[in-house]
Amino acid sequence: MALAKYKTLIGRKVADVLKKTCNDVEINPNTVELLINLNKFIKTNNTMQLHLPLTSLQQHYKNISEEHFQKLTNLKNDSVLEGVSGSKIDNEPLILFHLNKDIFVRDTLNDNEYFSNLQTPDLNKRKYKKKVVIDFSSPNIAKPFHMGHFRSTIIGNYLSNLYEYLGYDVVRLTYLGDWGTQFGLLQVGINILGFTDKDIFQNPIECLFKAYVRANKESETDQNILSQAKDIFNSLEHGMNHSAFEKWKTIRKLTVEELKITYERLGIQFNVYDWESNYPANRSKSVINILKDKKYVTNEDGKLVFKSKCGSNVTLLKSDGSSLYLTRDIVAAIERKAAYNLDEMIYVTDFSQQEHFKTLNEILSVVDESWSDKIQHVKYGRIRGMSTRKGEVVFLKDILDEAKEKMEEKQKLSLTTKIDFAANTSDILGVSAVMINDLKQRRLRNYEFNWDSALQMKGDGGIKLQYTHCRLINLEENCNQDLPDKCDPLLLEEYEAVNLVQEIARFDEIIQSSFLKQEPYIIVNYLFKLCNAVNRAMKVLPVKSCSSHQIASQRLLLFYRARVVLNRGMKILGLKPLSKM
Ligand code: ARG
Repeated sequence: MALAKYKTLIGRKVADVLKKTCNDVEINPNTVELLINLNKFIKTNNTMQLHLPLTSLQQHYKNISEEHFQKLTNLKNDSVLEGVSGSKIDNEPLILFHLNKDIFVRDTLNDNEYFSNLQTPDLNKRKYKKKVVIDFSSPNIAKPFHMGHFRSTIIGNYLSNLYEYLGYDVVRLTYLGDWGTQFGLLQVGINILGFTDKDIFQNPIECLFKAYVRANKESETDQNILSQAKDIFNSLEHGMNHSAFEKWKTIRKLTVEELKITYERLGIQFNVYDWESNYPANRSKSVINILKDKKYVTNEDGKLVFKSKCGSNVTLLKSDGSSLYLTRDIVAAIERKAAYNLDEMIYVTDFSQQEHFKTLNEILSVVDESWSDKIQHVKYGRIRGMSTRKGEVVFLKDILDEAKEKMEEKQKLSLTTKIDFAANTSDILGVSAVMINDLKQRRLRNYEFNWDSALQMKGDGGIKLQYTHCRLINLEENCNQDLPDKCDPLLLEEYEAVNLVQEIARFDEIIQSSFLKQEPYIIVNYLFKLCNAVNRAMKVLPVKSCSSHQIASQRLLLFYRARVVLNRGMKILGLKPLSKM
């Protein structure tokens, strides 16, 4: 039984008592449950403690006085709840719930149903049954896949895995920027540099990048370039330029092929490749009409402008009739809602697009009230200082290649690890390292990239997670023990064993809290702790060399359960757990 279930039980009891003592104030057991926390196991004590502070309760229910609170010590005991007592920390009143440690250990490790569901989640049994479309990664094919998109890619993937694990029906969608003036700019760049179709075919991302940079640079000094780009885009949008249209189709196809390779490397599969070009100006007519009828848009110098609540003016159609990023997002959202019958839509981009999504939300809610609670913008900060031996990084592929090479070098230097090139171990390790280095950051914080800390073998990082996972698999495969039928807590009395059980039991609440805050670092930090607890336990609780067969098999059960939790946690973060390295 996971810790969350104990909390639910205690939460209910607490809510009952408080409701009675506070003259029927409505107390929500689920709220109470979230305020209860585990105290670390204390060596000399044979119970485990959960605690509930008065101040956190008062944040939700102001009327609860200390006197009401103390009444909780009368809570009825049962087999697992051995006692309830009042205490104070820094003068703050707390209630301590004392659980029977042996029952806790036994229930946690015996819960076959829970662990088999962790191993192979049964999506029908999940708590939330909703449909969510997660729009993430979404690079622009006229501009390079820069590191900002990398964050969107892995944070969006983590969110998708997490929502899916919690029972949501998730549509993973990437919305490629293949429309707009930059696209015209790209064509101008291709013309300036004289790239042939063959050049582009052979090395699409690099050619396109060069073309984009060149045109951009020239447009700074030459007004002409920008107006050429605008013309090209405008003729594309109105279906008037056949050859530009064909070229655009080829570029799109080549870029996607290359993108797919990178996604595969990161272990990401999209259900939908959506395109900005799916939503050109002419498809915005009906929504624009609604906005016109409701008097939210006006015509200013030929431009169609939306007047937002806060008084700012946002252009929806340019004077030449072409659409903007925002217009396309409005139409895309409306069409997606109809196509997927979605309950929520999440967009993952860096924080600079905050205003864009606020306006999008505002406009959609004006069009249709039911949008108001459906849109979420999950934003994140910037990565700085990411460079490879070749210099400042532009492409994600270069970072992943460099990470792989550096891992290979490290593996060659290390005497204890065997190199397993066939299984592509060093690539998976490199990707894990770069990913965890990012996911361990608080989402909104900007951070400085550093190769040494990303690729560290011993400290808290992706390699540690993979390494511990491999150790656990190795133990299971080589210890010559079978799993016991049942857990016997009397054979798992050591501090290190109970400490590991506690970590295992926390998984559910960690998932819940990561979900509520949409913060991957909560799971990452937890997995680091879980690995520390595993490594500490492995030092003092030998399995293979243990003289008692019974004790050895109980330990195996403990490590096996830990591995299942670690494996699921890694998968939710988007890692591919390795079996050996
Ligand atoms: N392509 C955009 C960019 O790179 C991100 C798109 C995010 N998704 C969306 N529906 N607007 O800035």
